[in-house]
Amino acid sequence: MAQNEATRDAQESTAGAASSTQPATNIATTTLNEATAEVQENTGAAAPSQSAGADLEVDENASADGDSGYNDSIGTASYASSISSSIRNYKYEPNDEEEQDRMDLLNHIYRLLTRGYLHLAPINSNLQRVLDIGTGTGIWAIQFAEEYPSAQVIGTDLSPIQPKWVPPNCTFEVDDYEQEWLFKTKFDFIHGRELNGFVSDYDRLFSRAFKHLKSGGYFEFQSAEGDLFPNDETGYKAKHTLQLAAQVREASAKFGKSFMKIHEWKKMMEKVGFVDVRKVEYKLPIGRWPKDPKLKEIGKYQQVQQIQAVDAYAFALFSRVLGWSQPEIQVMCAHVRNELKDPSIHLYGKVHFVYGRKP
Ligand SMILES: C[S@@+](CC[C@H](N)C(=O)[O-])C[C@H]1O[C@@H](n2cnc3c(N)ncnc32)[C@H](O)[C@@H]1O
Repeated sequence: MAQNEATRDAQESTAGAASSTQPATNIATTTLNEATAEVQENTGAAAPSQSAGADLEVDENASADGDSGYNDSIGTASYASSISSSIRNYKYEPNDEEEQDRMDLLNHIYRLLTRGYLHLAPINSNLQRVLDIGTGTGIWAIQFAEEYPSAQVIGTDLSPIQPKWVPPNCTFEVDDYEQEWLFKTKFDFIHGRELNGFVSDYDRLFSRAFKHLKSGGYFEFQSAEGDLFPNDETGYKAKHTLQLAAQVREASAKFGKSFMKIHEWKKMMEKVGFVDVRKVEYKLPIGRWPKDPKLKEIGKYQQVQQIQAVDAYAFALFSRVLGWSQPEIQVMCAHVRNELKDPSIHLYGKVHFVYGRKP
């Protein structure tokens, strides 16, 4: 499977390093050159010099692809299930299965974006203790445990939805990362992914991560922004989608778990004491419109994920926080789904990776 090949590529490219993985700046350079992603801000000396606002190159033939039923089937249950069954090996509890499928699809998208890397922080390859907060289905923790057999990986979440059959060096606990952390032994690596919009107090959370790391340990946060961007003028046709993204941001701020804080992660990590803090951003196309074949593949998966994310985020936030009626939300979401399926519209999101070291 492409995911495994990408992982092997990534691991092979680190083969020269004796006890630690390749420095993250090199990882980012490889990824960016090959997948045309973008680094906007990276304090490392070897930061790639792609121009921050460059548009992704569009495949002019993408709308006329031979697969005529494709756009009608995107977002349907059968399409989502055929995609997810191709990337998942695990069985889960029936609880909220669609959201669990979405999280696993996102895991696949992240690994395609990074050419297989589960992290960008230059962690030591024989690390001992790893914590994954808000682990969801646990897919990151499971894959990390498989790739780092020396590590004891703990995944925590409010929901006990993780599978029972996992590698022996991976365990799961029900825990609220916004409450006091009771771990007695410190960690070498603490990680959180896709928690944008799930954190009320970053200062407190990042301080806890700092406190519970060993000296020399790394903390890494990865997440998509709440905003979507037009790659060219066609993107402005997606007016409902751009409006929905703005309203999700407004609602999340009112709810006290703002999506906009992602832009402050680097500053906030430095404030609590992390050093060598780096931020890497990737453009995440929605749809098969990019010319680059890897980005085209990523865009295909992201289109499905984005359509599912609309329902996952909009219904809860709009009804509870903005006071919209169910029919109002349904009409808005229907418009958004149509725009996201429209192959002539070129939109993308951005994924942020921010990591730092405890001195
Ligand atoms: C979008 S999912 C991301 C899951 C996983 N990190 C991944 O990338 O696949 C967010 C997860 O955070 C969990 N979560 C939200 N708030 C939490 C909290 N205060 N403590 C623990 N988990 C939390 C949710 O239950 C959900 O499983």
